[in-house]
Amino acid sequence: MEDLASDTEVDFSIRDLANGKKLFGVAQCYKCHRIQGQGGIAGPDLTPAGYRFSTHDLLETIIDPNKSISDQYQATIFQMEDGRTITGRVVNLNGDQYWVQPDMIKPNELVRLKVQEIEDMKPATVSVMPVGLLDNLTSEEILDLLAYLKSTAPKPADELGE
Ligand code: HEC
Repeated sequence: MEDLASDTEVDFSIRDLANGKKLFGVAQCYKCHRIQGQGGIAGPDLTPAGYRFSTHDLLETIIDPNKSISDQYQATIFQMEDGRTITGRVVNLNGDQYWVQPDMIKPNELVRLKVQEIEDMKPATVSVMPVGLLDNLTSEEILDLLAYLKSTAPKPADELGE
């Protein structure tokens, strides 16, 4: 973060966007995020993210997802009577049972919890977005990824000439 944030005045117009797009897949972003109409729905659509966030904030949300957690995507921590603790997003409440998705990267693996066996439930304070997703990328690759994120956002007219 420090290395790159000091460098936020980077010239993104010279970055490799095709490589950034490829890295979006390599770093698993597609599993949870849509961009330009493609990808998963566990997290917000990132097409406009490059416009909504400054470069610094964009990088920060990726490196430290726990800094801002959206209630819309927040997980719940279930404390079960048998001692199990299950954290996941509730995808369905059906009569006396919750269907919970413990791992957003495997959206089809659901766990069924019976309401009468739940001792306690509270909102999770950590994001379902994993930390460390960029750990295996070089800083050059991270810049390409950021450039790609910035490129999909609609630009206001006065910035188009830059
Ligand atoms: C396991 C699911 C998951 C994966 C994988 C994931 N994210 Fe996220 N991401 C989320 C969720 C959920 C949020 C909503 C905020 C929150 O609750 O943390 C989010 C928020 C964001 C945001 C803030 C968007 C906004 O509009 O608030 C950005 C930017 C982002 N992710 C980028 C990425 C990038 C880039 C990758 C790949 C390196 C990635 N994410 C991988 C789930 C994921």
